[in-house]
Amino acid sequence: MSSRKKLIAGNWKMNKTSADAVALVQEIVAEVGRVTETEIVVCPPFTALECVGKKLEGSTVKLGAQNMHPEASGAYTGEISAGMLRSIFATHVILGHSERRTYFHETDQFINQKVLVALKNQLKPILCVGETLAERESGSTLKVVQTQVEACLEGVSKELATSVVIAYEPVWAIGTGKVATTAQAQEVHAFIRSLLIKLFGDAVAQKIRILYGGSMKPANAPELLAQKDIDGGLIGGAALETRSFVDLVNAAVAAG
Ligand code: PGA
Repeated sequence: MSSRKKLIAGNWKMNKTSADAVALVQEIVAEVGRVTETEIVVCPPFTALECVGKKLEGSTVKLGAQNMHPEASGAYTGEISAGMLRSIFATHVILGHSERRTYFHETDQFINQKVLVALKNQLKPILCVGETLAERESGSTLKVVQTQVEACLEGVSKELATSVVIAYEPVWAIGTGKVATTAQAQEVHAFIRSLLIKLFGDAVAQKIRILYGGSMKPANAPELLAQKDIDGGLIGGAALETRSFVDLVNAAVAAG
């Protein structure tokens, strides 16, 4: 039993039309819309944020975006600002997902700007970090994760740090069906906790949630969620279906 409330976040990625998104969120709300023991966040694509948000009204499920731009407004074709997300009552935003780092060349410095802007706008960043297979095989996992955590959290105050959520997502486990072993995951989570202690002090670091992400499913979730420093999950594939997402929420509730 941890003092940190577990968090299950669904990253829907580039899936679901608005109509499909509404159908999914209605089922999710019907099943777990009153759960308070675990925090639940759904992150639909931009086009479905507003209509999904409307269906979340009156439930405990929160709304998150999958990305945002650090500028407040202006000539940034195709981008969305923190203020725009706040205006439709989003509370969370995924930042630095490995797909954005890989396909859109996002750097730690750019992600850091977004983290600071999100926090300034009362949006809780879900900051993704994690190593590639080559990095794991060459033994540089902890070094890579340390660089990402430190660079992306540069300038974050102790006061705002408790609003940050970290998601440790080994890139080789995302969408591949290859889940990290509980020992591999816990090792990196404990390491991230030690970095957070150095950055913000023990009291603050003990309040920051560190999620695991990468092929998390109802079958492997209980063991992962039982680890001391695993405070929830960032779920891709298994968040696209009501049954598996609800089962993951229930696993988090059971893990306490
Ligand atoms: P996955 O994705 O659960 O499909 O592996 C996780 C993520 O990319 O956030």
